[in-house]
Amino acid sequence: MVDFSTLAQKYGTPLYVYDFDAITEQFTALKEAFKARKSLVCFAVKANSNLSVLKHIAQLDAGCDCVSIGEVKRALFAGVPKYKIIFSGVGKRDDEIEEALVQDILMLNLESEEEMMRVEEIAQNLGKIARISIRVNPNIDAQTHPYISTGLHENKFGVDVDSAKRMYIHAKNSAFLEPVGIHFHIGSQITQVEPFKEAAVVLANLVRNLKALDINIKFFDIGGGVGIQYKDEVTISLYEYAQSIFASMAGLDVTLVCEPGRYLVGDCGYFLTRVLYEKHNGYKRFVIVDGAMNDLIRPSLYSAYHEIVVEKKEQLEFSVCDVVGPICESGDFFAKNIELPKLEHDDLLIIKSAGAYGFTMSSNYNTRARVAEIALIKGQDKLIRKRETFEDIIDLEKEYL
Ligand code: LLP
Repeated sequence: MVDFSTLAQKYGTPLYVYDFDAITEQFTALKEAFKARKSLVCFAVKANSNLSVLKHIAQLDAGCDCVSIGEVKRALFAGVPKYKIIFSGVGKRDDEIEEALVQDILMLNLESEEEMMRVEEIAQNLGKIARISIRVNPNIDAQTHPYISTGLHENKFGVDVDSAKRMYIHAKNSAFLEPVGIHFHIGSQITQVEPFKEAAVVLANLVRNLKALDINIKFFDIGGGVGIQYKDEVTISLYEYAQSIFASMAGLDVTLVCEPGRYLVGDCGYFLTRVLYEKHNGYKRFVIVDGAMNDLIRPSLYSAYHEIVVEKKEQLEFSVCDVVGPICESGDFFAKNIELPKLEHDDLLIIKSAGAYGFTMSSNYNTRARVAEIALIKGQDKLIRKRETFEDIIDLEKEYL
């Protein structure tokens, strides 16, 4: 068991802690489920982009799914081979496309005809052939939070099957485009196999149609989206997930690509925060902590549940409370109406399942310094990002005063 008190004492709070061995376990379980086919796991960098996390992922033999040139550069910097990097995203700037082509990454994942035209022109100007994949929106309801559901036509992502087909034909006939992949990503925190299965069937049929047109897709990318247990969700069986995808791919000679973010790192991360004080407004009990929504925004943004564990020997006088941060917004909370024991100044709270979309969504709101990040590697702790200082925060502004 991780000794959170010692870590909090050594590095201060608030603090992110990531268990790298647990990341390895998650990765190994996924590869095991996929072992019947060629597969490439490309970690969705947006979930946790710390360089040491990416280096660890690279050492496991995984690639990266990136959604900005910044993420592509991070992955390259951390040692991820260029031939395992995918660049996705609904809007890419010209300079981002250019850089991705110059870096010669595995493929650019396109989300519109307009984007394809830009990529073609830029590739032509550079005298290069752009390897592309097309994100197909299969119009499937992933049955998750509306903000993180992406597979319906009402969402901004991808193109419908007919448009995709037109795009593939155009790409095949272009001297500057090489269609190599097909992609779907229908949403995040999905807890049922069915939506994945339906999407895979739609795309596999398209791959077969394309084959008849002599367009040979090599990478069958099923996106990310596998959910984790934050509270009482029943998560999907990886075996069933893999088998249902394989069933749809029958007879196709393609490499399976998968882009997990949350599944790989979510449960491996903890957010540590200390109690500043308790406060009672009439009947309402608030536990005010030193972490805030700028550090971990998921509860505020999605009403997401994160389990909170109290690190304290004697736990007495339990009562209902809200756990809130010091930011000047009522939305600044980590939990509402949960039962916690009586707490005192400096008591330590551990917020669980914080490894994905925690630090990466943090900000300097209220001029709060972003927190430090720690890795646990075979039981040893290691600083992987130092705590920001006030100087860091004002660094890009101060010369203009
Ligand atoms: N691939 C693509 C194209 C994506 O857009 C995403 C996530 C992933 C892979 C990874 O999805 P995952 O395996 O982590 O579910 N901030 C939200 C989640 C946003 C997800 C955006 N796309 C949250 O905190 O729940």
